[in-house]
Amino acid sequence: MEITGRRSQEVYDVVGIGFGPSNLSLAIALEEHGESTPEHPVRAHFFERQPTFGWHRNMLLPSTTMQISFLKDLATFRNPMSRYSFISYLHASNRLVQFVNNQDFFPTRQEFHQYLEWAAAGLSDRVTYGAEVTSIRPVTEAGAPTCDLLEVEVRGSDGTTRVVAAHNVVVSTGLVPRLPDGVTSDERVWHSSEFLSRFRARDPETLKSVAVVGAGQSAAEITRFFHDALPHAQVSAVVPSYGYAIADDTPFANQIFDPAAVDDYYFGTDRAREAFWRYHRNTNYSVVDSDVIRDLYRRAYDEQVRGSRRLHFRNLTRVEEVRRAGGGTRVALRSLLDDRTEELHVDALVFATGYDGLDPARLLGDFDRHFLRDAAGRHRVERDYRLVSTPDLTCGVYLQGGTEHTHGLSSALLSNIAVRSGEIADSIVLRRTERELDRRGPVQAERSAA
Ligand code: FDA
Ligand code: NAP
Repeated sequence: MEITGRRSQEVYDVVGIGFGPSNLSLAIALEEHGESTPEHPVRAHFFERQPTFGWHRNMLLPSTTMQISFLKDLATFRNPMSRYSFISYLHASNRLVQFVNNQDFFPTRQEFHQYLEWAAAGLSDRVTYGAEVTSIRPVTEAGAPTCDLLEVEVRGSDGTTRVVAAHNVVVSTGLVPRLPDGVTSDERVWHSSEFLSRFRARDPETLKSVAVVGAGQSAAEITRFFHDALPHAQVSAVVPSYGYAIADDTPFANQIFDPAAVDDYYFGTDRAREAFWRYHRNTNYSVVDSDVIRDLYRRAYDEQVRGSRRLHFRNLTRVEEVRRAGGGTRVALRSLLDDRTEELHVDALVFATGYDGLDPARLLGDFDRHFLRDAAGRHRVERDYRLVSTPDLTCGVYLQGGTEHTHGLSSALLSNIAVRSGEIADSIVLRRTERELDRRGPVQAERSAA
């Protein structure tokens, strides 16, 4: 179905950009749709720039656990009978009984990664790895009033470029690592998203003093990892708050991740949306799971008892400046308590300073001017996650991620991916049916409906 020139011989109903959990979940929803209508399956293909499936591989630290229940997997909330559920994976791995004995809703990230790899392997004919989408553009026919076709340019790992055509694309390219202004990463200054590969590239013996910036889950997990992996090293945590704050995962607060909360957020008033953020940002951002907080505090206390401290917390402190110095890095820290600055000399400095949301404009380039924005300059998005476009476009650009302003807090998370993917699959199928009926004209459409 692929094309090598400007135009295609055959056209996909949908091309998925990125093959992380969101589009993997969409591939499953589309496959299960096809099983119910084998005579008219949705033609779909996915492109993933990584050479193989991988989900935040550089943060697969030992003992880290998922922040959602295993039941919020790729499919269960949409289709509890799916063969791609976490329970099916456990069964296929001969671990279902043992998993239940564990009595834990939250698997390790290692195990969930294995589950995702297992599911991705089942759909390998629908994805091309080592394939980065570099642009999306409309195909305009001379004289046609509307455009219902897109061209997607894909660069292979060997540098070759090809173009595929589709009626819809689903952009699911994930979070974008964020470093403070003026900071760039290298072999001594790392963002948390590159942590394990940077760490493995260094001889641990050369890491005698390390520092971690931030007070979110990534920062706390990396601080704990350093403390375990570098028993000879001084480990400093540069914490912008007075101390790590707890991630609220209690039942009432957790309701903001329910599928129904998407409607409440989407159709709610501006004041309602603002209240979601004011009251519940602490379910996800700049917060840490309680077991990790208690573990870190216990370690610091034990060192105090023993009288030899190497785990240091610099609270209410932010990074002012980073300077490369010989074989190490000098970090200027400013304390918010007394406004004094202090300089640390470290062998590795990790910025666990979070991520920016997905911004489709990066991929859309010039095509972005066809998509409407709200008064605050953000993309307008329909309830079915389709970008609102000028009326001349009948082709669709859907988002998985980048919709926190329209669909709420679960947009960048796994909580709702099964239901969201189902909604996107339904929308693509429904709009395809409408397009086909339009083409056939009113008389034939009536006959088909009868
Ligand atoms: P994700 O980022 O996973 O995948 C996007 C994919 O697109 C990537 O594989 C990327 O390579 C690919 N890509 C990007 N640009 C491309 C291009 N131009 N062409 C082709 N491919 C491209 N949430 C939660 O609910 N529970 C949890 O436990 C966690 N845990 C967690 C741990 C860590 C360390 C982080 C950083 C984040 C989480 N999250 C989370 C939140 C996280 O956003 C979520 O788990 C998923 O990664 C979202 O899946 P996506 O598929 O949307 O993005
Ligand atoms: P985050 O929650 O956004 O936290 C970023 C932290 O960096 C905040 O404490 C922020 O402080 C701080 N920061 C930003 N700029 C700074 C600066 N210049 N100086 C000092 N501090 C600065 O990011 P994250 O911890 O990477 O988490 C991102 C997502 O991944 C979340 O959804 C999280 O739950 C998820 N995650 C999950 C797991 C897991 O499943 N086990 C592991 C890691 C991450 P301010 O608040 O002051 O800006």
